[in-house]
Amino acid sequence: MLCDQYYLTSPELKLTQVNGKAPGEPISIVYVPSHLFHMLFELFKNSMRATVEFQENSPTLSPVEVIVVLGKEDLAIKISDRGGGVPVRKIERLFSYMYSTAPRPNVDDSRNTPLAGFGYGLPISRLYAKYFQGDLNLYSICGYGTDAIIYLKALSTESIEKLPVFNKSASKHYQASSEADDWCVPSKGPKNMAKQSAAS
Ligand SMILES: Nc1ncnc2c1ncn2[C@@H]1O[C@H](COP(=O)(O)OP(=O)(O)OP(=O)(O)O)[C@@H](O)[C@H]1O
Ligand SMILES: [Mg+2]
Repeated sequence: MLCDQYYLTSPELKLTQVNGKAPGEPISIVYVPSHLFHMLFELFKNSMRATVEFQENSPTLSPVEVIVVLGKEDLAIKISDRGGGVPVRKIERLFSYMYSTAPRPNVDDSRNTPLAGFGYGLPISRLYAKYFQGDLNLYSICGYGTDAIIYLKALSTESIEKLPVFNKSASKHYQASSEADDWCVPSKGPKNMAKQSAAS
């Protein structure tokens, strides 16, 4: 409805469900409906906007394809669009608050909900996903389209609230790098060679 209001057109939705845990059975998990609604609403707005803007000269719009898969551990929802994608270099930036490529919406006009422009759709949605131990990732092919995947825990016993803990041992955990240094994750400072030669 929002997309139609703005662009006078909107792409179709193609939905596929796969129950990998119990084939043939309907998919169900325990989750907070409003959180799921928020994430899907934001991802659909983004995919629809990208599709309509990228395919503005085409007579028909490619559908937004959604696949919902229930596995042993995860429920994954993949939303794929043919909205032209985003360069890999920019993917991380899309998750920063206030980053948007849409014009800033007019907040005085309270009758109309804007389709885009606040720049917090993705970061807030990822926060919602992570809150119950899930995640939200974007995989894009620049010049073609984007896949957004929401991962949720399939088992309610694993959907435990994830809250930041700020005490001494937690801050140590955040500071300590668990990955070994390599040319992708360089070490924080130059190696102290003097100390090393003194030790040997
Ligand atoms: N599926 C997509 N295809 C192409 N670009 C996308 C897609 N999803 C997001 N983007 C880009 O990422 C930017 C940030 O998205 P985000 O949802 O966080 O904010 P927004 O859509 O601009 O505003 P709002 O907070 O109102 O949703 C968008 O402005 C758009 O440029
Ligand atoms: Mg958005």
